Amino acid sequence: MISPNSVDHLLQVAVIEDVVGDYVKLKRAGSRYKGNCPFHDEKTPSFVVTPNMGIYKCFGCQKGGNSIQFMMDIDNLTFTEAARQLAKRYGIDLVETNSENKDAEMQSQREKENLQAANDFALEFFQEQLHRSEEGKTVAMPYFRERGYTPETIKYWNLGFSPSGWDDFYQKAKKLGYSEEFLLSAGLIKQRDKDGSYYDLFRNRVIFPLLGVTGKVVGFAGRIMGKVDKAPKYVNSPETLLYKKSDFLFALFQAKGTIRKEDKAYLMEGYTDVMTLHQSGITNAVASSGTALTPGQIKLIKRFTDNTTIIYDGDTAGMKASMRGINLLLEGGLNVRVVPMPEGEDPDSYCKKLGPEGFKSYLDQNEQNFITFKAKLLLEGTQNDPLKKSDAIRDIIESVSLIGDPLKRDVLIKELEHIFDISSDLIYTELGKELRKVQQNEQKQLLDEVTQIINHIQPENEVIRTAQLTDIYQEKALLRLLLLYGGKPFSEGKNVADFILDEYSKEELFQFKHEETKYIIKHILDHYDSRNWLPLEFFTRSLDSKIVSFAADIFSEDNKLSTAFESNLIYVKQQEDNFMQEIIDVFLHLRRTKIEELIIEEQKKFNDPEENPEDILEFIVYLNTKKLELAKQIGAVVTRY
Ligand code: UTP
Ligand code: MN
Repeated sequence: MISPNSVDHLLQVAVIEDVVGDYVKLKRAGSRYKGNCPFHDEKTPSFVVTPNMGIYKCFGCQKGGNSIQFMMDIDNLTFTEAARQLAKRYGIDLVETNSENKDAEMQSQREKENLQAANDFALEFFQEQLHRSEEGKTVAMPYFRERGYTPETIKYWNLGFSPSGWDDFYQKAKKLGYSEEFLLSAGLIKQRDKDGSYYDLFRNRVIFPLLGVTGKVVGFAGRIMGKVDKAPKYVNSPETLLYKKSDFLFALFQAKGTIRKEDKAYLMEGYTDVMTLHQSGITNAVASSGTALTPGQIKLIKRFTDNTTIIYDGDTAGMKASMRGINLLLEGGLNVRVVPMPEGEDPDSYCKKLGPEGFKSYLDQNEQNFITFKAKLLLEGTQNDPLKKSDAIRDIIESVSLIGDPLKRDVLIKELEHIFDISSDLIYTELGKELRKVQQNEQKQLLDEVTQIINHIQPENEVIRTAQLTDIYQEKALLRLLLLYGGKPFSEGKNVADFILDEYSKEELFQFKHEETKYIIKHILDHYDSRNWLPLEFFTRSLDSKIVSFAADIFSEDNKLSTAFESNLIYVKQQEDNFMQEIIDVFLHLRRTKIEELIIEEQKKFNDPEENPEDILEFIVYLNTKKLELAKQIGAVVTRY
């Protein structure tokens, strides 16, 4: 763990406008900066950086936090990775504290560094061989050029060449002092059983470096240049501490920016497919590298977008892989579309055939949702055989049932209805069966529960549901008031935080019920010291990203308060006069919501034969009088938070 002091120091040096400024063009606006949000596509800037709080906040997509959080969001790093990266950039030594397994951690860290060094060296070696050696210049380079890759593309992907000798790489590495141990574990060399001598893994192949999501080289793929019949087409690095096949997507590092911007990823099979598409200006393409798609790869995509389009090879294997991929992607919560390739083509060959513009319009014209794709494929050559047709429908419904979002399912069912010309009732019946099978009744149970509640709610309780919806805002409002005014004096020897936290803890009725707000208040209670209210920076500089982003959310809120806040924590007078009234109002609202919830709970008990209806009724009447009392206190003015 990185010590809190270190983090604090880091946040003071790695100032937010600087850190963000590397990624976003910022324009000064008063004491803040504004820019176009890097996390979603927008034309008018809603991304705000507030230097004196050290935070950023996007009012469009709601992302926000401090410098470390920004690095986590923009590069999808863990807290530690982000802190280390910033520390490196700003030349700060982080103090890392604890832990029992520190030795093991250090050990694996050292191993990783050594592997990285071996890979970095190999990357350099292979490129040097391509650009400088005789063999590279006369055999490998022409191979790339003949396949249509420009010198810029060759540089951009750090393409290389491994010479045809048995141990050119090993000899060079040894001369420079790289130990056999790490060359072996990086998979760059192998050892002969008979005499213990070493030889290179990659020999006489063109080299495609494999970069991890942060741009470091984690492994290599070497492609044979001549005929494929004697040796395998590709030789790949073995798995290491740096490279796990099932968690790797080729070109994600190069494609992630565009994937995020266009909110869509093209998923293909091969290295060459991806490189050709990028060269043609389609830079949101990644490859699963020929292996069957894995849940780990799907998670990687999901970090950057919810929308995938599969473009697999136009052969039987590609079709089969698409069918499998569709279900996996749907299960992973992604939206799936497909562009089929003509028989015998892969994206690489077909893009070269049609040219960049032709290929782009082919993509636009042939992209279809997975239902259309599956329907065509399953019905091909079945001559409208009704049995085949119902098999196809069932197959597609099975896919649809993997989608968690009922709204999305509805849209797709419309499509299905249209394609197969069958009634939606029939589809819903089938889907119902599938859902029950796959999701073990989860959906239906929920539906039953809701129907039950609704059946027992009298019309005047209409209000209840709206109350519940706004409830999270009340909880947030209370936290906002606490963070903003907690340090103000309340009464003799007590500050506002004392008052709020006492009130909060005193009554079960006031306890928060949303995970998010519960988490924050628990954190505050854990760190609470009544004589010494926490300064605002405590929250924006917390080690806990949930707290930071919550604090950023509150402090950046575009309301009168935060405008006042800009002028260095000096609030406008009338706001200050109001805050106690506001606090009391929030408590009253919270309490009323809670009572309304209890009433619903109580009403549910009417269905339970074990319960005595008279008792239930009595309690409901009691709760209702409480509610009326509160309503009076709250008054006619409904404050909305
Ligand atoms: P393909 O056979 O479609 O190769 O395999 P490709 O990418 O189109 O390559 P070219 O255009 O023929 O040169 C698709 C992917 O499967 C993996 C590679 O990642 C390849 O890009 N693969 C294939 C291997 O790992 N080993 C092999 O022997 C073959
Ligand atoms: Mn291919």
